[in-house]
Amino acid sequence: MQNPWLNIPLSEYESHMALPRVDQAAMTAAEFAAALSLFTPESVAVIGCAGGNGFDAIPASTLRVVGVDINPDYVSLTAERYMGRISGLEFHVADIQSDVLPFTPVDLIYASLVFEYVALAESLENLARVCRPGGHLVTLLQLPSATMGALTPSPYGSIQLLTPLMRLVPPSELASLAESVGFQLESSKTVTIKSGKSFVIQAYCRL
Ligand SMILES: C[S@@+](CC[C@H](N)C(=O)[O-])C[C@H]1O[C@@H](n2cnc3c(N)ncnc32)[C@H](O)[C@@H]1O
Repeated sequence: MQNPWLNIPLSEYESHMALPRVDQAAMTAAEFAAALSLFTPESVAVIGCAGGNGFDAIPASTLRVVGVDINPDYVSLTAERYMGRISGLEFHVADIQSDVLPFTPVDLIYASLVFEYVALAESLENLARVCRPGGHLVTLLQLPSATMGALTPSPYGSIQLLTPLMRLVPPSELASLAESVGFQLESSKTVTIKSGKSFVIQAYCRL
């Protein structure tokens, strides 16, 4: 079966994320900015980069920026948006659960709202290979809500294609699998946005 992300136009995904009742894009961009300022990486990889949400906050001191996504259209649109504005930019179309990621290891990996859609163990093994020892992995997971479904209802029909694929990952499950491939949990915090949805942000150090 084809991955449903290949059938969701970027315009629909971004319009969905910008709906007032979803409103997650600003939060995920803010968490990326916070990770950049905490770890001041020379190189960063954004896994599941979609349209480059948060790329505006990448400082000039970050010399290499790697965007990875399974959807080739997202990658070309994001390249068009940011080529020439951010130096050291490279993009890869890859499925993080099955492809060996074709770039040299980076100081920081940011993986926001992507583990909900992949085989976790395989993806973490692949990510461990592209994080340099002493580097960091920052993850952002959606938590279940007592009052809201995992996928917010949307006028953008293609978003519903994600229903059979999406699985909310318990942060403890991520931490335990991450540890098994060499990522040590350093910090964890919960953020709740206006809609009432909560998210966990974990930072790991690559041993
Ligand atoms: C929910 S969006 C998150 C976008 C962005 N990281 C954010 O937090 O705003 C998930 C992104 O991960 C990508 N994605 C999903 N499965 C993937 C896979 N197996 N390999 C690579 N990218 C994947 C999707 O195409 C999409 O761009």
